[in-house]
Amino acid sequence: MRKKIIAANWKMNMTQGEAAAFVETLLLELGDESDVDVVIIPPFTAIPKVTEALGAAQNIKVGAQNMHWERSGAFTGEISAAMLRDLYVRYIVLGHSERRQYFGETDEIVNRKVRAAHEALLRPIVCIGETLDQREHGNVEKILAHQLRGSLADLNGKELTETVVAYEPVWAIGTGRNATPQQAQEAHAFIRHTLTQISDSATAEKVRIQYGGSVKPENAAELMSQPDIDGALVGGASLDARSFAQIVKAARPDDRD
Ligand code: 13P
Repeated sequence: MRKKIIAANWKMNMTQGEAAAFVETLLLELGDESDVDVVIIPPFTAIPKVTEALGAAQNIKVGAQNMHWERSGAFTGEISAAMLRDLYVRYIVLGHSERRQYFGETDEIVNRKVRAAHEALLRPIVCIGETLDQREHGNVEKILAHQLRGSLADLNGKELTETVVAYEPVWAIGTGRNATPQQAQEAHAFIRHTLTQISDSATAEKVRIQYGGSVKPENAAELMSQPDIDGALVGGASLDARSFAQIVKAARPDDRD
């Protein structure tokens, strides 16, 4: 049984004060959640504040939204995996469509970062997904397979099982228009099938595949009930602690409240 993983991608939002208030409310709602893996992914500047506010809540982990693939050096404005480890970061979002679209990240760049993350024992959350145009032209599987093979090239089985894949159809991000549970399940099943080809079925069965794109408290439970949907990468709805907590609760195995 794959444990569900729900992550809050705050993108370029939240000051330190807002981050601390968020965590305080989240802990009141969830306690130190253990039924679901919960990851908070603030902008770099709020990472220490989130860790501090989590205090003894060891189960809730902290992630970051990007990093460079080199260990150190003359790369003005960049941050390394070791620097993130130094801040107790455990997960790293790589290849988000906003980075691919606005910052020119290719599968090759994403792959370098994924390999550097594993080397530093950070768990990558690797984002893939098609645009509306690609979907309308019937190219969903072609695009997903290409992004997956490129971004995850040269990983061994252990590294693959410690990688989270996030299926985020670009047309569903920030639009309020989520993929239907059936559309998402179809894409997730295809991703798992491709992972089987990349490695083997035992490995592919262990990889967690999150859905991302307009996940809200109202649609989370149905999305999460699909056999190959192992969690959610939440943008907009993760900025409100109560909404995010409701999404986490919707992912609990027996719907306990
Ligand atoms: P929204 O939940 O705002 O659609 O964003 C999804 C996303 O990009 C998470 O990484």
